[in-house]
Amino acid sequence: MRAITQDSYGAPEEVMVLRDVDRPVPGEREVLVRVHAAPVSGTDWHLARGLPYVARPITGWRRPRSRIPGYDLAGTVVQAGPAVATLRPGDQVYGWAAGTFAEYVAVPEKQLAPIPANLTLEQAAAVPIAAFTALQAIRDGAGLRPGGTGDPRPAGTAPRVLITGASGGVGTYAVQFAKAYGAHVTGMCRTSKIDLVAGLGADEVVDYTSTPLRDLGRRFDVLIDLYGNPSLDGCSRVLVPGGTIVYVGGTGGRWFMGTDRWLRGMALAPLRRLRTRPVIHSDSRDDLATITGMIESGAVRPVLDRTFPLAQAAEAIRYVTAGEVRGQAVLRCAD
Ligand SMILES: NC(=O)c1ccc[n+]([C@@H]2O[C@H](COP(=O)([O-])OP(=O)(O)OC[C@H]3O[C@@H](n4cnc5c(N)ncnc54)[C@H](OP(=O)(O)O)[C@@H]3O)[C@@H](O)[C@H]2O)c1
Repeated sequence: MRAITQDSYGAPEEVMVLRDVDRPVPGEREVLVRVHAAPVSGTDWHLARGLPYVARPITGWRRPRSRIPGYDLAGTVVQAGPAVATLRPGDQVYGWAAGTFAEYVAVPEKQLAPIPANLTLEQAAAVPIAAFTALQAIRDGAGLRPGGTGDPRPAGTAPRVLITGASGGVGTYAVQFAKAYGAHVTGMCRTSKIDLVAGLGADEVVDYTSTPLRDLGRRFDVLIDLYGNPSLDGCSRVLVPGGTIVYVGGTGGRWFMGTDRWLRGMALAPLRRLRTRPVIHSDSRDDLATITGMIESGAVRPVLDRTFPLAQAAEAIRYVTAGEVRGQAVLRCAD
């Protein structure tokens, strides 16, 4: 089968090579999936270069631990291991697995679910990890619940949530989950994507190129920090006393990529009467079921910008890091 392989760290166009490799054989509780599509994101650009360095014990010291990049997928089951109970050849599934920039991948049954009935396989590929991260930021980080029941303030007062990076892979879901969970949502993005974020249901959209965070001039209950890692001074200016910073994105620095600012913020926020909630997404079958339900009910939808053939993985990663992508881009792995 064809797969993108990577034997060293570096710029994607230098280290990602399309090769013929052995097709994986599914284990007892695994299925072999023909990968229809796999998403690319800015995280793939960092991982290709082995950044941040502090993550190398997990990602691999000198070379990537997983030779084939890619962490989520949508595709068709072609073979099921003998102990697989819920999936059969022909099922269209989505979920997470290492090595999805390939025509086939063997995936534990428990990491897959049927794709939402109202999505194509390409749209479904743009869901799992971006949506996990957004759901967990809104529900577990911000403490919002469907109908706003997690909000301790009087009924009828919607929590005011500010989301930076609202036009990106994670942000487009975060806006929709926050709205579905009863928040008043303000999203920040560049000028050309204001229509996109407004179309996802944001109550207000701020163009960060003309109004940076420090000039917002109003306060929120929650900041979902997907871009920028603002200082505590910056956060104090946009949050009410007792407000919450939900750290999700990391910006800047090859060693820590912003996580050092998370730690400083977590240590010092109580002195500013602010709360902090770091979110490192966890892959969760239960959350995939929640997300499937919300997509099928129309509360949430993926934003798919464009697709690339598998051979153009490096170009796709460059495209998403160049800033023009609206939502997400996916690779067509089994064209
Ligand atoms: N904690 C976790 O488990 C987890 C999981 C997944 C991702 N992440 C992190 O979450 C962050 C967002 O991921 P993503 O996949 O959504 O990234 P993405 O698709 O590349 O989106 C990046 C977002 O940042 C905004 N942005 C870029 N430059 C900016 C600037 N100069 N000022 C203000 N905003 C700017 C973009 O807005 P415009 O496009 O409108 O300019 C876009 O909305 C990344 O840092 C990623 O590493 C964390």
